[in-house]
Amino acid sequence: MLDTTPRTRTYSLIQPHGGTLINRVLVGDERAAALDRAHTLAQVALSELNLADLEMIANGGFSPLTGFMGRADYESVVRDMRLANGLPWSVPVTLALDTTAAASIHEGDSVALVEHRADGETHVLAILEVQEKYSYDREWEAQNVYRTTDTAHPGVARLYRQGEVLIGGSVSLIDWPDRVRHEFAELRYTPAQTRALFTERGWRRIVAFQTRNPIHRAHEYIQKTALEVVDGLLLHPLVGETKSDDIPADVRVESYKAIIEAYYPSSRVILSVFPSAMRYAGPREAIFHALARKNYGCSHFIVGRDHAGVGKYYGSFDAHHIFDEFTPDEIGITPLFFDHTFYCRACGSVVSAKTCPHPTSEHIVLSGTQVRQMLSRGETLPAEFTRPEVSRILMRSVQNSDAQPILERQSS
Ligand code: ADX
Repeated sequence: MLDTTPRTRTYSLIQPHGGTLINRVLVGDERAAALDRAHTLAQVALSELNLADLEMIANGGFSPLTGFMGRADYESVVRDMRLANGLPWSVPVTLALDTTAAASIHEGDSVALVEHRADGETHVLAILEVQEKYSYDREWEAQNVYRTTDTAHPGVARLYRQGEVLIGGSVSLIDWPDRVRHEFAELRYTPAQTRALFTERGWRRIVAFQTRNPIHRAHEYIQKTALEVVDGLLLHPLVGETKSDDIPADVRVESYKAIIEAYYPSSRVILSVFPSAMRYAGPREAIFHALARKNYGCSHFIVGRDHAGVGKYYGSFDAHHIFDEFTPDEIGITPLFFDHTFYCRACGSVVSAKTCPHPTSEHIVLSGTQVRQMLSRGETLPAEFTRPEVSRILMRSVQNSDAQPILERQSS
């Protein structure tokens, strides 16, 4: 006899990196006690990068990290792209102090991590148990992580500006940095929240898209091509610190809101912000971005041309090749690689170097400089390059500020 009972399957989302979603947020009595204790401790003021890292550690986006790295993890990550226990991890997450500030902090101490508000008030955020204090070699880190020691590279410049001593240890969060309440609060889903949303929607296979730019047609093409083969799309624009000539995060997010409204099926797309800061480490950052999105519950991750690159420091597809240095199992999340993408007049659509047979003379590719010039002259960008809704937002932003937006990733 045929078994006609309906079969219900329960699918689970991808496991976080290392198997456990970290949560370093104190609540209730523990939080109150920690806050009292924090007021008695030496204070360490966090940089923009540190603030973003603290949020990502606390919310589990950097699982399995529970704090800022100690020496064994740091050196292993810089040298081998692995934590000391062998798990893939491609960029350091460290807390640097200058020698003077470090002199009064000793291994075994606890310190209060704080941010300074514009009005001069100190906001206590977390307690760090200082398990280690150690020196490090910035040039060695730069060469390994960024593949250059050139201080024109924004990641290298930031590294060279930071202090000479690292302190490592686990963190316990007392209060989120102010930005969590004030910047994109309604879009700042934690990994636990995106996982809950995916489950609610019945999505099992989710592709994440990292970006630090306003959306253009090439982005839209690769996002929608990826969406064809999965259940849902997590649009995950980065809102942590970026270099000064990148488009500001609010313009980036506004352009996403406009485009989703006009061109995306709301039942298949979630817009959320990624609080991390850009490192501009190109290939290594592609691995890092992928692992973080795995923590957010995504099964797939888009890696296009010159992912997280800057200037001419990386080959256009180095961020694809670096995945070959790991087994698919140890990365867990599946990268979806895309070739250079653009509009082709002869094809009459957005295509990629992989799918288009026509000469470059048929392709509409604008350089960052061309985009800037057109916007500052008040000209709308070609619809084949950017949707008019986004053009308008960019033009407003250029005209209202001195910021120089660069849609550099679509330029050839
Ligand atoms: S990134 O620094 O966040 O990588 P960006 O926002 O420009 O920069 O790119 C987001 C993603 O889209 C990256 O994976 C990048 O490789 C990809 N991408 C951007 N423009 C193109 C393009 N024209 N062709 C192919 N991939 C692209």
